[in-house]
Amino acid sequence: MKKIAFLTILLFCEFVLHAQQVTSLKLLPMPKQLILNTGSYRITGKFTVSVQANVADTVFYKAINRTYQALNRKTGLVFGQHYITAADRSDSASLVIAVKTMASPVIAADESYSLTVDEKKVKLEAPNTIGALRGLQTLLQLWDKDDKGYYFPCITIEDSPRFKWRGLMIDAARHFISFEEMKKNLDAMAAVKMNVLHWHLSDDEGFRVESKVFPKLQVNGSNGDYYTQAQLKELVGYAKDRGIIVVPEFDMPGHSQSWFAGYPELASQPGPYRPGSRGQWQKEHPRPNTPKTTSIADVIANLEAPTFDPTNEKVYAFLDKFIGEMAAIFPAGYMHIGADENNGLTWRQNPAIVAYMKQHNMQSTDDLQRYYVQRIYHLLKKHHRLLIGWEEIYNDKLPADAIVHKWIPSDNGMIKSAGKASDLATHNPVLISEGFYLDVFMPAYVYYNNPAFAETDNPNILGGEGAQWTEFADNNNIDGRIWPRAGAIAERLWSPALVNNVDDLYRRLFILSGQLDEQGLSNISNYERALRRLTNGESIEHLQILTDVLTPVKGYRKMVAVMFKPTQTAFQTSPLTNVSDIVFVDSETKRKFRHLVEIYLSTKDKNAEAQIKSTLILWQQNDVQLQLVFADNKRLLEVQDHSKNLAAAAAIGLDALGKIDKGNANDTDWVKQQSDTLDIFGKAHNETEIAVIPEIIALVTGHLAPEPASYSVF
Ligand code: ACM
Repeated sequence: MKKIAFLTILLFCEFVLHAQQVTSLKLLPMPKQLILNTGSYRITGKFTVSVQANVADTVFYKAINRTYQALNRKTGLVFGQHYITAADRSDSASLVIAVKTMASPVIAADESYSLTVDEKKVKLEAPNTIGALRGLQTLLQLWDKDDKGYYFPCITIEDSPRFKWRGLMIDAARHFISFEEMKKNLDAMAAVKMNVLHWHLSDDEGFRVESKVFPKLQVNGSNGDYYTQAQLKELVGYAKDRGIIVVPEFDMPGHSQSWFAGYPELASQPGPYRPGSRGQWQKEHPRPNTPKTTSIADVIANLEAPTFDPTNEKVYAFLDKFIGEMAAIFPAGYMHIGADENNGLTWRQNPAIVAYMKQHNMQSTDDLQRYYVQRIYHLLKKHHRLLIGWEEIYNDKLPADAIVHKWIPSDNGMIKSAGKASDLATHNPVLISEGFYLDVFMPAYVYYNNPAFAETDNPNILGGEGAQWTEFADNNNIDGRIWPRAGAIAERLWSPALVNNVDDLYRRLFILSGQLDEQGLSNISNYERALRRLTNGESIEHLQILTDVLTPVKGYRKMVAVMFKPTQTAFQTSPLTNVSDIVFVDSETKRKFRHLVEIYLSTKDKNAEAQIKSTLILWQQNDVQLQLVFADNKRLLEVQDHSKNLAAAAAIGLDALGKIDKGNANDTDWVKQQSDTLDIFGKAHNETEIAVIPEIIALVTGHLAPEPASYSVF
């Protein structure tokens, strides 16, 4: 037995390495095992599908027809089957799908499938319909094209996920994210085999769900932007059709100002309240001894924020009814209660709450929060829901089935973390979003190499979630904020840990980006639209040459800068149309340029040199052209210095190329001087930074430094 197991592991490694070397494949996430053979199955207008299954599941047939039509649109071949049904059972169809049983998307579902393509046919087999849904997505990514037309390469794939919880959190409270936009994101999640939408539906800035029992929640707690119950149900169904469950989050006891706009009696202080950020609340309710806050950590630790009153029995009666109402809309067995970032200051301001704590022998507001979480845990149990909370819920008395959602970077030196995921997992099931925050603008490779997922798989670590908070994302730019980077997270959660080649990730990620935009997201098209807005309808050519190599500043520096601007009050409606709001977090131009520099420095390849040279000349000359666009355009003031610096950096790069040619790169004074200048150009300026400075420095030093494994978040 042991020998067989060992052999399996060996073979498995071989397959994975093989898979990484297959640079023609566009699969993302990469399957667990694959063997690529020679030859192909040619896709023609006669492409047909049959189903060998005794299941009458409409979700399954809808998914098959969606895939079939997507392929029909992709190839333009005008396929002949109008609608594939259980009656289509022919053995001789082009694609035969065989499943044994029907399954609904649940966390414990078997999601495995196998896919074989030979020159005569394509076969997709799965133990159940959910596995088949995953396999259909693989098939959709497998197509390719040559001068003879479209084809699937001959291949054998055996696939199943590494983690059972592969989520994406979308915050619909800060900037409201529309119903249609949510659907598009569900389509994208399905494409990369994610299976949980964690929907952050309430926060200080907005209550985004219609309650029929407590209508003042959405009426007073939002600016009119909320989901009706019909929309919520439709979205849950839309997700289910794609093998995705929806877990709602109603954040409490903090992050809850919007609840109190309609129901101030639930809060620890009398109010009145209206939806708005913590910073806004502070401005409107200044206290003499509030310390000055200059960082996110300060805000969390020192700013008072409206909070539920855990000593008020009416709160639990209210929440009992509310949870019951929501449980009827969200059938998944989980509800997320947030419970993050409550510093207890508001509780300490209320003498009745302080007296209650004394009376019940509570030493600190942490004890009171623990009590609150326990009460909500039991309310959720009553409604057959399991509690999930951010890691602040963690303590040694937390019920063993409550799920702890890790988010705070361990050892960050600013915000106290509950502990490492692996330690928390010795007591409770754990979800990890630490290192997966998309709103901190990290390049995809940072998420991909998230050290939290390097460890041996622990069954109590259920998986993880990418997290998109929306202080700086709205309906226009959110697709480009989440995608394609969430694809790196999806692969980390689905594929074996051994699949870790960053260059190959980027190759496939940019292909995914194009595919998602083509399928209806705006991850690329919003960028182009927004550039036209910035040039007031004039040509975007020269602006784009610059913005293609700009990326947003990493971490929460942008958030801190905006939060403390005297003019900034409402995140809910702030327009997100500045350069920093629209540029890609991963610049494709940078990745290509980096690749060329890598080739050139190691081989002195003439073709790479010529391409580097022409790119540098383009950047050098662009600033002059851009001056015309900058004239009288105040909105572009933020990038004028970058334009000058890119031109100057490119000039240094050209100089360096000349020196390398003459074997003169050892001029150490020159190298030091130019590198120092380039370092300055590489610094963030306003809310963006030039992404290609490390590669130009490499031309100067003759050495391409590895990219940092991570960047500071705070
Ligand atoms: C969080 O980011 N406060 C969960």
